[in-house]
Amino acid sequence: MTRTVYLNGDYLPETEAKVSVFDRGFLMADGVYEVTSVLGGKLIDFAGHCARLQRSLDELAMTNPHTPDEWLAIHRELVARNGIDEGMVYLQVTRGNPGDRDFAFPPAGTPPTVVLFTQAKAGLADNPVAKTGWKVISIPDIRWGRRDIKTVQLLYPSMGKMMAKAAGVDDAWLVEDGCVTEGTSNNAYIVKGNRIITRALSNDILHGITRAAVLRFAREAQMEVEERNFTVDEAKQADEAFITSASAFVMPVVEIDGAAIGTGTPGNVATRLREIYLDEMRKAAV
Ligand code: PDD
Repeated sequence: MTRTVYLNGDYLPETEAKVSVFDRGFLMADGVYEVTSVLGGKLIDFAGHCARLQRSLDELAMTNPHTPDEWLAIHRELVARNGIDEGMVYLQVTRGNPGDRDFAFPPAGTPPTVVLFTQAKAGLADNPVAKTGWKVISIPDIRWGRRDIKTVQLLYPSMGKMMAKAAGVDDAWLVEDGCVTEGTSNNAYIVKGNRIITRALSNDILHGITRAAVLRFAREAQMEVEERNFTVDEAKQADEAFITSASAFVMPVVEIDGAAIGTGTPGNVATRLREIYLDEMRKAAV
């Protein structure tokens, strides 16, 4: 089946959706994005993704082309047209096409380029990998200083994923000044006893929408949450580790740089948080 994608107001077959070679997203990575999961045909934490989109656009002085209600309608229409039961909706807004290459931003009023498409992923929630967990390596974090803005500038995360693949593992944790910032496309956590430790929010990391929900559920379940930096050595000594993202939800991490974490199998805290997250978010899906 040909996918139907959304481009600047139109729903088109993916082969007919065309963007200019002068688009700022293409030439300058001048654009932001969101990824929202779909479970049972409904959107997970849509309001959170919409709020972060607004923040990313504001930080880059870009105008939001749609209201939250309009975004919701476009997401729902695409999910329906593509018959998505489990999967993701990818949304991207770029600074548009100024008609030439220029470092200066285009004049106000230049229309943004708005693209959305769906990705069907059967078994997203019931992922067998959650039963065995991910292995990760640590690599230096050499990304730019505004990782809190969800830009489409994903070359280094992509290279990190390739370094992980070459090392025969699932992902890479990025390390700056001796401490873990986050995973290539997820937030990173360790667990010591009943305490969940994760880096505090700052410009150093993406403010994960899944992170916010998971930490809220953890506190409600009487788990302790400590938002602070941690090192790779501390991760090796931890009882458990895990990551969160909109597409992986809560995924246990069982090994870092060849060292088993805890028992080397998914821990109770990560497993429980995955269950709670999926239960609660399915109930609140729109
Ligand atoms: N990535 N950190 C980074 C660098 C990310 O790219 C992501 C998300 C996260 C987790 O954020 P959230 O919980 O809001 O998904 C943290 C998405 C899923 C992606 O690029 O596909």
